[in-house]
Amino acid sequence: MNKTTVGSSLAMAVLITGISFGAGLQTKNPYEGNQKMIKEGLKIYEFNCKSCHGEGAKGEICPDLTTKKKKYGNSDADLFDTIAKGKQGGMPNWDKTLGTEKIWKVIAYLRSIEK
Ligand code: HEC
Repeated sequence: MNKTTVGSSLAMAVLITGISFGAGLQTKNPYEGNQKMIKEGLKIYEFNCKSCHGEGAKGEICPDLTTKKKKYGNSDADLFDTIAKGKQGGMPNWDKTLGTEKIWKVIAYLRSIEK
């Protein structure tokens, strides 16, 4: 291996690590405003969340999710974190059950009904 090959494989390694890190730390919803994804998000919501958060996420025994003001923050990153990891007050964690893509879809749905 000459100097140039060592240099470029090093650059490749840095690039690949950079890309995988980027995906893990995504803080912006890639599906926001996408009608198809919002529809899928609605289905995910009805199947997994409605029993607690109610019809149209207006809150039942659990918090209303249509308000912009949220206890744990309302940025994409906050919502992702709350849904993925759960909260001590009885909110289950969904990272294993749903995974990243479905969590973003359900957030796209929640954004579409936000008041
Ligand atoms: C077993 C009942 C239950 C289910 C099912 C459930 N949640 Fe929750 N959720 C809660 C409770 C209880 C809280 C309040 C937690 C707290 O205040 O610590 C909460 C809080 C939240 C919050 C934070 C609200 C705020 O004001 O910060 C979000 C967002 C949320 N849930 C989204 C979801 C989504 C999306 C789903 C479906 C994938 C879901 N929840 C399923 C019970 C549930």
